[in-house]
Formats: sequence, C-alpha cells, structure tokens
Amino acid sequence: MSTVSRGAPRTTPGELAGEVILVSGGAQGIGNAVVRAARQQGASVSFCDLDASRVTAAVEAFAAESLDVHGMVADVTDEESVDEWIAAASSALGTPSGLVNNAGRNAYADPTTMTVAEWDDFFDLDLKASWLCARAVVPGMLSAGRGSIVSISSIHAKMTTAGMFPYAAAKAGQLGFTRSLALEVAGRGVRVNAVSPGLVWTPLAEAHYADRPEELASTLAVQPMGRPARPAEIAEVVSFLLSPRASFVNGADWAVDGAHSARFA
Ligand SMILES: NC(=O)c1ccc[n+]([C@@H]2O[C@H](COP(=O)([O-])OP(=O)(O)OC[C@H]3O[C@@H](n4cnc5c(N)ncnc54)[C@H](O)[C@@H]3O)[C@@H](O)[C@H]2O)c1
Repeated sequence: MSTVSRGAPRTTPGELAGEVILVSGGAQGIGNAVVRAARQQGASVSFCDLDASRVTAAVEAFAAESLDVHGMVADVTDEESVDEWIAAASSALGTPSGLVNNAGRNAYADPTTMTVAEWDDFFDLDLKASWLCARAVVPGMLSAGRGSIVSISSIHAKMTTAGMFPYAAAKAGQLGFTRSLALEVAGRGVRVNAVSPGLVWTPLAEAHYADRPEELASTLAVQPMGRPARPAEIAEVVSFLLSPRASFVNGADWAVDGAHSARFA
C-alpha cells in the first residue's frame, strides 16, 4: 500500500468546488478521465488503482497538466485495502462527498466450465467492490447530509452479446445495487446513480480488439454515431451526476452509448 500525492489540492472554481471525490481504477481509461474532469471542475480528487507504477505515472501526468491529484495503490476487491484507501484519502482531502465505482473488467467465460473461483473473482470486482467502497463512504456522507455515488455499469446491463459470460449479470447487478442503495439513503441527502456506457475507446477496449480487427469492424459498423465514445464523454456525465446540479437525479441509470441501445438491429 503506498500513497502518492503532489502538494495540497488547489481550489479552482467549478461546479465541483468543495467536493471530495474518490474514483476507483483511476490510473487509465474512463476512471482516469473522471479524475481529470472532477479535478478540473474544482473537486479534490483521490483515485486508487492496482499497480504502483501506473498510479505514480498517472499522478505525474496529472501534475504535468497542473492538476494535483491524490493517488494510491489499493485493490477494491479487498475490504481492508478499500478501508485503507478511504482513510488515507479522507485524511489527505477531507470527508468524501463523492464516489465513482469505476474499476471493472470484461469477462469471457464458458458458462459450463467456469469455476466457482473464477465466478467469485469476477463478481468481487464487477459488483462486490462497489458495495465495499460505498460501505466505507456512506456513513460520512450521511453524517454530512450530502453525497453522490456513481457506479459505471454498461450497455451490457440491459442487452448483451454472446461470448461475454457473465459480464451482463454483474453489470445488471450494478443497476440493482444502485436502485437498492438509493432507496436506503434517498431521504438523507445522498444520491446514488449509474452510468451505462456503450463502447468507449480505453486501454480495456484497445487490448480486446488488438488482435480482433474483424470484430472491431463489425462493432464499429453498428455504432449509430459511427465511432466509440471518448473517455472524456463519459466523464462529463459522471461529473454532472456528482454535482449539485443533478440534485433530483437519484436511483437512475443514464445511458451514454451514442444511441446504441436505441437500436433494434
Ligand atoms: N471501455 C468500454 O467500452 C466500457 C463500456 C462500458 C462499461 N465499461 C466499464 O467502465 C469501467 C472502466 O473501464 P475501462 O474501459 O476504463 O477499463 P480499463 O481496463 O482501461 O481501466 C480500468 C482500471 O481499473 C483498474 N482496476 C482493475 N481492477 C482493480 C482493482 N481490483 N482495484 C483497483 N483498480 C482496479 C485497472 O488497473 C485499470 O487501471 C469498467 O467498470 C468497465 O466495465 C467500459
């Protein structure tokens, strides 16, 4: 467990000024874009990720953009690691008022040969981790009477494709988690929402399609907007949901998929 930070967080004007926002899996991809957007909007931001060198590289890259960000190595599938991250971030930046459950990965298991260990390993990250992180921050949010939690689900929560078992089950679980938690805390100032992206061009997507040019071509061919999303386009929506401007958005799932889920065929 190590902590990396570059000086005290600056206060910049913006719609997230005064917020303390935590982002899981912020070293790259969508999480990285969320960290940048939240910091640019004036929030103090802490992210965690698995690998020390990637955390350091991301903190340094943000510093090169004049964005002071708190980064830390933590595994969000491990409750002790989560608690250490939240404690370190709270001590560096203050009580968290925002949480983005972003860390996740794809699954490509055969449902008849997948082992229980593989099932548990996958759901630990793509579903249980969101609860572990929420469990650690919700008490502080309830004491403060304000907070916003956003979980990154997927277009796969509602429709999916063969060959990605059981990704859809975990991402649908994220939506159930969102609704369920939202109702537990709705009357006490805390909002809980989900964002469901379609294809986003991140290292995860890049790695998947690297040796599958035909699959990439057919995937792009069915994108109504003719392209994948940029991570920053997902981050814009997450920033809004984190902000007081979204004060009556609660228990919701926002599609950010360029109309892909509007398409029958
Ligand atoms: N890229 C897409 O097309 C797409 C579409 C819909 C939803 N999503 C979802 O968005 C989220 C981010 O996806 P991405 O494409 O940016 O992925 P990515 O692999 O590019 O980035 C994910 C980050 O999470 C980190 N991470 C993984 N396991 C972790 C753990 N146990 N603890 C802490 N950090 C961990 C990784 O190290 C990585 O830096 C995921 O939940 C994914 O399912 C992605």
